[in-house]
Amino acid sequence: MSPDLAEALNTVAARIEATLDALLPLPGGPERRVVEAMRYASLAGGKRLRPFLVVEGARLFDVAPGQALRAAAAIEMVHCYSLVHDDLPAMDDDDMRRGRPTVHKAFDEATAILAGDGLLTRAFEVLADPATHTDGAVRCALVAALAKAAGAEGMVGGQMIDLAAEHRATEIGEVTRLQRLKTGALIHFACLAGPIMAHAPAQLRDAMHFYAQDFGLAFQMADDLLDVEGDAAALGKATGKDAGRGKATFVSMLGTARARDQASRLADRAAAHLAPFGAGAERLRMLARWAVERRN
Ligand code: IPE
Ligand code: IPE
Ligand code: MG
Ligand code: MG
Ligand code: MG
Repeated sequence: MSPDLAEALNTVAARIEATLDALLPLPGGPERRVVEAMRYASLAGGKRLRPFLVVEGARLFDVAPGQALRAAAAIEMVHCYSLVHDDLPAMDDDDMRRGRPTVHKAFDEATAILAGDGLLTRAFEVLADPATHTDGAVRCALVAALAKAAGAEGMVGGQMIDLAAEHRATEIGEVTRLQRLKTGALIHFACLAGPIMAHAPAQLRDAMHFYAQDFGLAFQMADDLLDVEGDAAALGKATGKDAGRGKATFVSMLGTARARDQASRLADRAAAHLAPFGAGAERLRMLARWAVERRN
């Protein structure tokens, strides 16, 4: 990774950590436990890739950094919730996440379900707050876009197809749709949050839309490759889980060599969509390459 990209990622990671910390204060009383679990799930870990996409996308349109960080925190809360529920015994049944025990291991299953619910709903509360944008119509557009990306037409729908596709013959078109929904939809929101906040013109919004589409698929292909070829210690989560559960993935469909080749081509194509932004989008171009070359 280039030093500039590494530094930019680290800077966003530190800012998002502080923002999440401030947005998730610990209450007193017996409900404290669920907020402890929400904080466990969302603080100290993760690549913070979706927040980075929000922040960089917002920078291209001169959105106020403080407002962009709130949208970035909202999408990271939804992402963390999706991971907490994805790891539950009823779903992927994983014990490790971001280098430490999953939420249902560190707490218990019921608390993990509630912590996911709490993060999901807090995300919308954050977006709806006037501190996120002065224009109520923009806040409403952000809420609607995140709801669509997270729900049955997005991540939740993709997770359903993912479970339904276990141990069942699946064709590549269905796997592509599955991945577009389960991973692509939240990444798409992250890329479009800046343009929404800035009332960006259609042509530039479209450029981000096409970048997000190719980036999302490439990113999930890399996740599938890492499940086969990656190092569990570097990833902070177990490997070999997809094959173990008979999951339909790009790697199970295409094999590792073709999946790597496809991911690389998608990353290049994602970068090419950013031509209208010129040099200002260089970090997002580098991020696309890194997304498919990453080791974690
Ligand atoms: C993992 O996402 C789950 C997928 C959608 C592939 P990330 O690889 O972004 O996980 P963190 O946030 O860095 O832990
Ligand atoms: C999870 O995909 C995607 C979501 C949480 C929506 P995976 O099940 O492949 O993610 P990992 O490999 O457990 O991180
Ligand atoms: Mg899963
Ligand atoms: Mg999983
Ligand atoms: Mg995976």
